[in-house]
Amino acid sequence: RIAGPSGLVIFGVTGDLSRKKLMPAIYDLANRGLLPPGFSLIGFARRDWEDEDFAQVVHDSVKEHSRTPFREEVWQQLAKGMRFIQGEFVDDAAFDRLRTTIQELDKEQGTGGNFAFYLSVPPKFFPQVVQQLKDHGLADPPKGSWRRAVIEKPFGHDLASAQELNKVVHEVFPRDEVFRIDHYLGKETVQNILALRFANSMFEPIWNRGYVDHVQITMAEDIGIGGRAGYYDGIGAARDVIQNHLLQLMALTAMEEPASFHPKALVAEKLKVLSAVQIPKDLGRHTVRAQYAHGWQGGEEVPGYLEEEGINPKSTTDTYAAIKLEINNRRWAGVPFYLRTGKRLGRRVTEIAVVFQRAPYLPFDASATEELGQNALVIRVQPDEGVTVRFGSKVPGTSMEVRDVTMDFAYGESFTESSPEAYERLILDVLLGDANLFPRHQEVEQSWRILDPIEQYWDKHGKPAQYEAGTWGPEEADEMLARDGRSWRRP
Ligand code: BG6
Repeated sequence: RIAGPSGLVIFGVTGDLSRKKLMPAIYDLANRGLLPPGFSLIGFARRDWEDEDFAQVVHDSVKEHSRTPFREEVWQQLAKGMRFIQGEFVDDAAFDRLRTTIQELDKEQGTGGNFAFYLSVPPKFFPQVVQQLKDHGLADPPKGSWRRAVIEKPFGHDLASAQELNKVVHEVFPRDEVFRIDHYLGKETVQNILALRFANSMFEPIWNRGYVDHVQITMAEDIGIGGRAGYYDGIGAARDVIQNHLLQLMALTAMEEPASFHPKALVAEKLKVLSAVQIPKDLGRHTVRAQYAHGWQGGEEVPGYLEEEGINPKSTTDTYAAIKLEINNRRWAGVPFYLRTGKRLGRRVTEIAVVFQRAPYLPFDASATEELGQNALVIRVQPDEGVTVRFGSKVPGTSMEVRDVTMDFAYGESFTESSPEAYERLILDVLLGDANLFPRHQEVEQSWRILDPIEQYWDKHGKPAQYEAGTWGPEEADEMLARDGRSWRRP
């Protein structure tokens, strides 16, 4: 899978995402020999830079963040196709220069006129940029070539705005040429969910309400909001990651087997399961949102959310969110899916835990099974990638005592192959036109359908709870599960 002649234009090239993820990913792809020889990269931003300044920024970001070793000859080859366009999004002349540059690169670098436009900009600019691309003839591919739009999240801030955005983008780019990035789908372990479920015969028979007690999906981060106050305040944890990453993880865990690995077949199954998601009636009992308060993390004292630079001290934005969802279908009816995420939690970990029902009867003394929990299959998404199965085992000795043990699969131990970074895979897929790992507009809209009523409820009902930085979240979240007779895992 090597990309054919092509190029990429990044809008918002001076942003964090571009520096930390996109530029290094492009270099790593080149280094692995997956980009065509004349691959071209155009940066578009307001900064007063020349091509050389842009190339220097890419160089520095590659040196700092790329995963593969720096090789001068790869860099020199890549740098030949780098151009910078200085301009505002309203600036017609800048878009004219972009068109001319693309034409020149076609001749000089042999891009074949195939270009993807990556919108790494706040969503309020999407309509403007997309319209400019249309007005300057950039969205129309020359005969025999392609033009694609790549959009970063957030895809709107609620259902109505997401629908509006989708409409604007679809007016300019055909649906199949729009690639929405959810970088979780680019993670190796996330793709493994479907392999685990559908390449094996031992899991699927018990992957249903007959055996599963509940599912817990956790995305915990130890970092705070860092320098992202402008983006994060007013958005919050649920919109930032539940609407996209966690609901996608849930869809992959709960969906039926697709007829094939064709994007349309995958989307059809994900959509079916997302449409069957039901939010609980009593949102006060089954959802929790909270903000981190001052605390300690990794031996360092850290400020509370409201004390962070750039945050409105009266902000009610959630940095932690936990919600209970149910899926109304034959496979899952009655099995709760608990989703939680938070910043400044105990440690960075993302996992999906499928927790099984207890054995219907235990032919032991009660004291023998005091330390026996519920069987669980845990997909460790990151950072310690792998799968764990937890089950009860006899404790060695003369008495009959049963205790939980685990059986582990770790990527590092089983495979020598290394995994590309999520953005590497996704950028390559955009250039190849492979849409499998990209949520379609209907999925985005379904996710907002699920989240909208929860956000509206939170807006109306008081302030977020508090949790001390470095802990596992607010007491209210523990109480939420305790009411169901369950408890959160401590990953
Ligand atoms: C992003 C969110 O989508 O995912 C960030 O906007 C979050 O707030 C990040 O920190 C986490 O990504 P990862 O890959 O480090 O888990």
